[in-house]
Amino acid sequence: MQIRTLNIDPPVWMAPMAGITDSPFRRLLRRLGCPAVITEMVSSEGLIRGGKGSMELLKFTQEEHPISAQIFGANPEVMAEAARIVAGHGFDAVDINMGCPVKKVVRSGAGAALLKNPDLAARIVSAVRKAVDLAVTVKMRSGWRKEEQNALHVAKALVDAGADLITLHPRSRAQFYSGNADWNLIKILVENLSVPIIGNGDIKTKSDAMRMMKETGCAGIMVGRAAMGDPFLPGALAQRPYPPGRAERYEAFCTHLDLVIGWLGSEQRAVLRMRKHLAWYVRGMPGAAKLRRSLDSFETASEMKAALELIAFDSELHEGEGKN
Ligand SMILES: Cc1cc2nc3c(=O)[nH]c(=O)nc-3n(C[C@H](O)[C@H](O)[C@H](O)COP(=O)(O)O)c2cc1C
Repeated sequence: MQIRTLNIDPPVWMAPMAGITDSPFRRLLRRLGCPAVITEMVSSEGLIRGGKGSMELLKFTQEEHPISAQIFGANPEVMAEAARIVAGHGFDAVDINMGCPVKKVVRSGAGAALLKNPDLAARIVSAVRKAVDLAVTVKMRSGWRKEEQNALHVAKALVDAGADLITLHPRSRAQFYSGNADWNLIKILVENLSVPIIGNGDIKTKSDAMRMMKETGCAGIMVGRAAMGDPFLPGALAQRPYPPGRAERYEAFCTHLDLVIGWLGSEQRAVLRMRKHLAWYVRGMPGAAKLRRSLDSFETASEMKAALELIAFDSELHEGEGKN
């Protein structure tokens, strides 16, 4: 997939996910073959103020390339300035958030609230387009409510304003994450727009990904929640071997944990951040429920690794596996 000077091949992206896709996780994903990553969403207002938390979210390492930064906001000038900051940091693309359903964000007119205001949404894209030479992409939902699914109308305005690519998560704001993503809307965008469309929503397996591409004709795919605890999945969609064995899952968790320790410079904070990830990594392993119950008791990295090692390699737990 060619977007301006950016080439993503195969066209598979890890979705931006606040609180999840931090730099260590993105590095792990890239090492496991995920072709492209995006930061968590970053406030444009926070960036232009030089806010510590927002600037922190823009930190990345060279091995994460190709990497896009996702910004949110409702003021075209502020968004343009934030995009300049993103470009100055060396990102390969800037993505504009038009999907976040969270109250605090939509109350300020940003995120999914922009779907109610296509004119402002287009002015934001146009301002960002003029501000930077980077690929400018937009990630959006299907509309504000089910009865107001105006994704095609909004997306057309965004493309006219200069968007190079649209990612569609076809749920309305009102749906948050409930119900199914309506892939038919992805097809409608593909058939009516001249830019590449990335399909997102409910890709949990390799066959889901193939089915989405076949049914919608989308130019690429983006995977989100299914990669939590399974950082192998995006790489697998890009034709890497899959599924991983228990030893590989154990190794991936240890690498992830070590990356987070290095990133935060504190084992204690890393252990806290990694508790939820460990719960995801053990999904489907015998003994997972017991480990989840003791998550809060882990205080050191070696305790976490030892607990996972125990359930990943304990011969009694895995007795009988692969016999039928
Ligand atoms: C915890 C969490 C955080 C998310 N953060 C963001 C975000 O920062 N920016 C964004 O555009 N979407 C965000 N999303 C939405 C995902 O990128 C994605 O669109 C959604 O989860 C649907 O894809 P999936 O079914 O593959 O998970 C988030 C979703 C979750 C569950």
